[in-house]
Amino acid sequence: KLILALSLAFLACSHGKEVGIRRYDGYQVYSVTAQNKEQYQALWDVYMNNEGVLDFWTDPVIGGKTDVMVPPEEENVFKLFLAKNGMSYKVKVSNVQEIIDEEKAANDQAKARSGSKRISWDSYARYAEIESFVNELPTINSIASVETIGTSFENRKLYAVKISTSPNNRKAILIDANIHAREWITSATATWIMNELVTKPSEYADVLDGIDYYIIPSINVDGYEYSQTTDRMWRKTRSQNPGSTCRGCDPNRNFPFKFGGEGTSANPCTDTFKGPSALSEKETKAVSDYVNGLLAKDVNILAYLSFHSYGQYWLLPWGYTANAYPADYADQLSLGNAALSAIQAVHGTRYVTGTGADVLYGVGGASDDWAKDAGIKYTVTVEMRDTGRYGFVLPPGQIVANAEETMAAVKEVAKRVRSE
Ligand code: ARG
Ligand code: ZN
Repeated sequence: KLILALSLAFLACSHGKEVGIRRYDGYQVYSVTAQNKEQYQALWDVYMNNEGVLDFWTDPVIGGKTDVMVPPEEENVFKLFLAKNGMSYKVKVSNVQEIIDEEKAANDQAKARSGSKRISWDSYARYAEIESFVNELPTINSIASVETIGTSFENRKLYAVKISTSPNNRKAILIDANIHAREWITSATATWIMNELVTKPSEYADVLDGIDYYIIPSINVDGYEYSQTTDRMWRKTRSQNPGSTCRGCDPNRNFPFKFGGEGTSANPCTDTFKGPSALSEKETKAVSDYVNGLLAKDVNILAYLSFHSYGQYWLLPWGYTANAYPADYADQLSLGNAALSAIQAVHGTRYVTGTGADVLYGVGGASDDWAKDAGIKYTVTVEMRDTGRYGFVLPPGQIVANAEETMAAVKEVAKRVRSE
């Protein structure tokens, strides 16, 4: 109760200053341990009701760690809350602004060094750079073709790239990335993968043989640009909510499967706002139309990967509620374990696999379950690097390593899909 009252007060006075770049001076990230149901429930209540004053970088789990970003003015209240509930915590990031500044410096340096306009994967690209990159791909190699699959709320074009070494429709893998704005590593990884396949197809015969790729490099483009220019921690879309000053909804709660179910909020000011209705967002509608269009044309999509960060998880269906498993769960799990070994073999990075709801928490309206429900055999949410040292603010120096290990996992998926 106390924490809520103070949080609302803070919200009220922070409302006026939507000008300039939002700063995170003195914001800390606590890694909180909830050991039992009571502690978890207490944390969950704060999570669902605090309207983004405390930003949960990861969602509450029992018996594990939950990363919570705490503004300096909330520190005492939150510590009191933790103490009252007997929860322990560790400070994981002592000043979020510091890691944002470091990331920006590394990014600016890399861009100054490379000089060229083409993306180089030692920095995070802006939307315009991703746009010219995808449009250049077909001129480099005709195995790539670009399609505009819609426009965003702020009228940016949404792109999908098909990469195929055959004129015939073959078994296919579809990838969506950057549904969440602040998860910059996901679009960087998607573009890296496209670039590798298009510029060095002979090195990737084991990936390209017999399989077509449909890749949406950045779907929440408005949110992505907003996170680049205004608020590094923005997650949602940027649509307007009638009757509210809070913008956007969580696009990964906006798909028409278990819409409004567990882990979703009806409050536009929270980070898990499901939106006014399923597919209310132009961006999710575009993905849905695109995928349904492909399925209607008998494109044999056998795997759907949704790129997120962070936590290093390979999340299997079902994700909408705990202890729910599709009939083919053994197949999902064996591919998951193969992917984990492949990932670890590249740079030693360890992932964890299991259903989205068992490993993390139940989520209604997510793209992974929606795709599984649409009949796609293998559906995965890939939560990329890291485990919270930098969280969403992954240094650009890790883009290539993250992408390389992800490519190793994609290779495993391709192998599996080929044998289906
Ligand atoms: N971090 C992702 C999210 O909150 C995880 C989604 C996993 N999928 C699921 N259906 N639980 O959207
Ligand atoms: Zn995400």
